[in-house]
This record gives sequence, structure tokens and C-alpha cells, in this order.
Amino acid sequence: MATKAGGTGRFTQDEKRRDSDHVSFLKHRSFRWLWIALLLSGAAIAGYLMIDQQPRPNGGTWYGYTLGTIGVLLILWLSLLGVRKRRINPGAWSLKAWTSAHVYLGLSLIVIGTLHTGFQIGWNVHTLAYVLMLLVIATGIYGVAVYATLPASLSANRKEMTRAQMLDALTAIDRQLESAAQPLGREDADLVIAAMNQDPFSLGVIGRLTGNFYGSCRTHYALTELEDDEPGMERVYPLLEKRLAQLDQIRGQLRIRALLEVWLFVHIPLTIALIAALTAHVISVFYYW
Ligand code: HEM
Repeated sequence: MATKAGGTGRFTQDEKRRDSDHVSFLKHRSFRWLWIALLLSGAAIAGYLMIDQQPRPNGGTWYGYTLGTIGVLLILWLSLLGVRKRRINPGAWSLKAWTSAHVYLGLSLIVIGTLHTGFQIGWNVHTLAYVLMLLVIATGIYGVAVYATLPASLSANRKEMTRAQMLDALTAIDRQLESAAQPLGREDADLVIAAMNQDPFSLGVIGRLTGNFYGSCRTHYALTELEDDEPGMERVYPLLEKRLAQLDQIRGQLRIRALLEVWLFVHIPLTIALIAALTAHVISVFYYW
């Protein structure tokens, strides 16, 4: 599985390289952070079950305050990953260790946050903070899933070609199209010229994410408008088909890249909304204390 996280820390250069090259952030240090997160969640559940109190503890009990404090501190720490990612100086922990801890401790918040609510859900700022937390976690799970699966499709779609080679292949087809389209009539030639002049990268956000490029694709439009048995088409039509196949490949790459990045555009704003709701939640709790 591919990972974005790099490796530095207290280990020798060789150890660091081995770790960062071959082990994904999920398996980092034999799932160390998974075990820590399970321990934390297990302890929270055990504490909740062991407290002999009716009604069951919620946010307003000493146990609730303990879980709430752990939850807030965890959320603030998880939010710092954005700062860590952009820091040039690596510090004591590798980015891979940070990401590994981020993922598993982030998941443990499902248990900690839920027990903190004491299962008391309502139309208020407390539940808003809880729901936002769950949404941030859900987008994080999506992120991990795409990091785990999409890099493989990225290289499969590339068919051993680099981005520059894909663009070169398109330019080569266009050069042939230019000469093949010379004998065409004005209207047909205009369709071919419009196809060649279209920027292969201008897909729009929706097109990029859904993979539905054909609505605005001029090469596809030219193929639907032109008749392959018309005079002069015997070279042009197959070249346009080849052009469309090449475009499919380039746009496939753009789509996979967009899917790899888009979730962060939800994960980050939701994190900001979560911190705002959390602040309101904490202030209102202490205000009415
Ligand atoms: C309330 C809990 C969470 C908060 C507040 C949070 C917040 C953040 C923030 C601020 C970033 C940095 C984004 C950036 O600047 O590029 C980030 C990245 C990330 N988060 Fe979370 N997150 C949470 C939970 C989770 C969970 C549960 C998962 C996975 C199951 C997850 C997976 C990720 C991943 C994979 C990254 C990107 C790492 C990278 O690009 O190298 N997050 N998160």
C-alpha cells in the first residue's frame, strides 16, 4: 500500500529508509498505534461498564469529564497533523508515525466520544460537535481507503507511460490528424480542429470527479457528428478514435488523482467546523455549570 508519509526520527538512516519504503502507515511498527488505540478504547469501555451508577454516566459526571478532556485533547492533537505535514524540519517523529497514530487514535474517538455523550443525543451544540466528529472520522476512513486502493489503479491506468509520454502520444496523434484532415470540407475540418484545440485538462470539478468527460469532450463530439464512411474519413476517423482513447487514459489519471485529494477538501473544513462546535460545547458546559 502506498503512503504519503515519509520517515525520519530516532533510528538509523537504514532503519528509517526500510520502514518508510516498505511499510504502510497502517502497519507502522507492527501496528503499534492500533494496539494503543484498542487499549484506550478498551479502558474507556471497561471504565464505563464498571461504574455502578444509575442513570449511566454521561458528559456531566466525573467520568464524562475525564472522557471529554481526553477527547478534546485528542482532537486538538489530531488537528495538528496539518501543521506537521507542512513542517520542513522532521522532528523526533516521522510523518508516517504521526499518520499511523492519527488514524488509530482518531478511530478510538468513536468509542471515547460516544461514551462521553452517555448516548444522550439531541438537537443541540453538544450533539452537533459529536456528529461533526463522526463526519471527520468517516471522511478519514474514506481517505485511508483511497490511499490503499487508488495508487494501484493509477499505475495500472498509466500502462507504463509517464504523464509526459501520454501527452507526447497525444501530440503525435494530433500531428497525423492535422495532415489527414486537409482534404475534409470546412464543416468537418472545423470539428477536427475544435477537438485538437481543446485543452485535455479542462474537465471541470464534476467531470474530474465523476469521470463523465464526454459531455464537453470535443473529440467525442466530432466522432458522433462525423460519418466514418464519408470520403476522406478513412484516416481521420480511426485517428480520432485513437485520440479519444489517449484522452481517456490522461483523464483517467486526472480522475484518480482528484479522488486521492478531494476528501481532504472535506476532512479539513469539517475539522475546522468541529473545533468551532467543540469550543461552543465546552464554553456552554462551563457556563451552565
Ligand atoms: C476527529 C478526528 C480527526 C481530526 C480532527 C482530523 C484532522 C485532520 C487534519 C487537520 C489533517 C491534516 C490535513 C492536511 O492539512 O492536509 C488530517 C489528515 C488526515 N487524516 Fe484526519 N482527522 C481525524 C480523524 C481521522 C481518522 C479517524 C482517520 C482515518 C481513519 C483520518 C485519516 C487522515 C489521513 C489519512 C490524513 C492525511 C494524511 C496525509 O495526507 O499524509 N483522520 N486529519
